[in-house]
Amino acid sequence: MLVFTEKVNLQKHLESFHKTNKSVGFVPTMGALHEGHLSLLEQSLIDNEITVISIFVNPTQFNNSEDLKKYPRTLDNDVKKIESLSKEIIVFSPSVDEIYQGKTISLSFNFDGLENQMEGKHRPGHFDGVGTIVKMLFEIVKPNKAYFGQKDFQQLQIVKKLVSKYKIPVEIIGCPIHRESNGLAMSSRNQRLSEKAKNDASLIYKTLKKSKEIFKTKSANETIKFVEREFSKHPDFELEYFEIADEKTLLTCKRKSKSKKYRAFIAVFVEGIRLIDNLSL
Ligand code: PAF
Repeated sequence: MLVFTEKVNLQKHLESFHKTNKSVGFVPTMGALHEGHLSLLEQSLIDNEITVISIFVNPTQFNNSEDLKKYPRTLDNDVKKIESLSKEIIVFSPSVDEIYQGKTISLSFNFDGLENQMEGKHRPGHFDGVGTIVKMLFEIVKPNKAYFGQKDFQQLQIVKKLVSKYKIPVEIIGCPIHRESNGLAMSSRNQRLSEKAKNDASLIYKTLKKSKEIFKTKSANETIKFVEREFSKHPDFELEYFEIADEKTLLTCKRKSKSKKYRAFIAVFVEGIRLIDNLSL
């Protein structure tokens, strides 16, 4: 299996595919791969002749240096998992210097306000970092299609905005959230949870599902109050936010409108680890 660490070598390798109009699918990741990532690769293998995955823990999207330090890095294991799907998948695993050339800073983006909601509010600079790396990776790989999980729904909407604003010729495909059997959304950060916390964290999805039921007959405010009450009963969980927002604009729902599609978004700390999830309402 081919693992590139330098962008020029990857670009040279991809050149002949671009020239012969082979479709290139791309799955950007930060490694510590789980079934959710593998499902993105599987979709890309179905849709495209060539599949590229990047594994790069992008420092500019971390607003918390401890989180960056502790982010799981499991390259050898990741490569084995990728290989088990297909030996044809091309891996790009650059160093921070290879990507940032000694200047590890973000560009500044305007995503028409999408960046000011939820994750953007609680993780200042996060989406500038995501925009910077995703734009760079798209310029290196030049994919026809790129695959993102819906667990990071706000990121998915922001990447779609990035592509439309910068007229990057790539189709963005959002793929369903993968869950553990207890409902916990799969995330690389789950690796840092104790077994007990992993079990208890089923509360997040259970509460999201209950909020969906409640929102059918009650207001957004009443639904939020319910969720806050549920989490206040569980001192091991610290609810950072629960919001009901318009799927498109990500603006908070003040008054329900039949013409809009809403989604519930949540961020919770468990054992100091920040978990996010969302559910279409
Ligand atoms: O979703 C992620 O893992 C990251 O935010 C991404 C898209 C790979 C950019 O670093």
